[in-house]
Amino acid sequence: MLTIAITSGKGGVGKTSFSANLAAALAETGAKTTVFDADLQLANLDIALGITPEFNLQHVVAEQKTLSEILADAPGGIKAITGASAVPSLMRAGPKKLNLFFSQLADLSKSTDFLIFDCAAGLENRVLSFLKLSDEIILVASPDPTSITDAYATAKTIFRRRPDAHIHVVFNQATAHEGQKLFKMFEKIIWSYLHKKVEYLGSVRFDQMAALATRKRELVVVQTPDAKASQDIRALAQQVQQWRTQNLKKAS
Ligand SMILES: Nc1ncnc2c1ncn2[C@@H]1O[C@H](COP(=O)(O)OP(=O)(O)O)[C@@H](O)[C@H]1O
Ligand SMILES: [Mg+2]
Repeated sequence: MLTIAITSGKGGVGKTSFSANLAAALAETGAKTTVFDADLQLANLDIALGITPEFNLQHVVAEQKTLSEILADAPGGIKAITGASAVPSLMRAGPKKLNLFFSQLADLSKSTDFLIFDCAAGLENRVLSFLKLSDEIILVASPDPTSITDAYATAKTIFRRRPDAHIHVVFNQATAHEGQKLFKMFEKIIWSYLHKKVEYLGSVRFDQMAALATRKRELVVVQTPDAKASQDIRALAQQVQQWRTQNLKKAS
């Protein structure tokens, strides 16, 4: 199981839609994919997916269900774990409960190839604990200048906590040309101030169909597979597939 955390410097850049659509694009290729709502501030993955699961993280925290038991079916053949508002109380719980949670997370590898954490924006400790759990981190930014400075601040905090972090940048609502230009600038700043390397995953174009899909609580890659955003996300999913292949090679 490859674990991926998706975060950003600020909210509203498209983390949740990217998490869910990336998951669906991975599932299209036959991979078993789970999206975990880890946004403690704005837990809305269930809304984005148009589902109301009977059981969620609340039941796990109350020790009524295990994580594997609350996996809910979601559009695009993916599974979802919802109810992130219960996560803060989990984090406040003692080490015994946390250890139980971590062993249940590891257990998900039986049913999941990719576990994607849809994290909150920003730098608070509870967000960072999900980043620490993850093999790879995707940092989503928009071409908006404040989004880029916020992304820089986030990368800085991530590297301080975890000097060996693998950070992959996605520019959302950007053309391929814009994305490449922005990434070059971002990479330069990160190198000159932090002496760290970040990777470029790619860009997703602004697409009316993506906004429309969200409004209808659907996934753009499922509803309009040929839309610009769907094509872009599918191309990024291909690269993410390769991370897993490399990871499996390393493990064997
Ligand atoms: N590539 C895109 N093109 C057009 N609209 C987009 C795109 N990506 C995201 N959006 C829209 O931006 C809004 C915020 O996205 P969301 O995923 O909820 O952001 P976050 O999780 O970062 O707060 C949603 O209405 C979504 O449909
Ligand atoms: Mg979100």
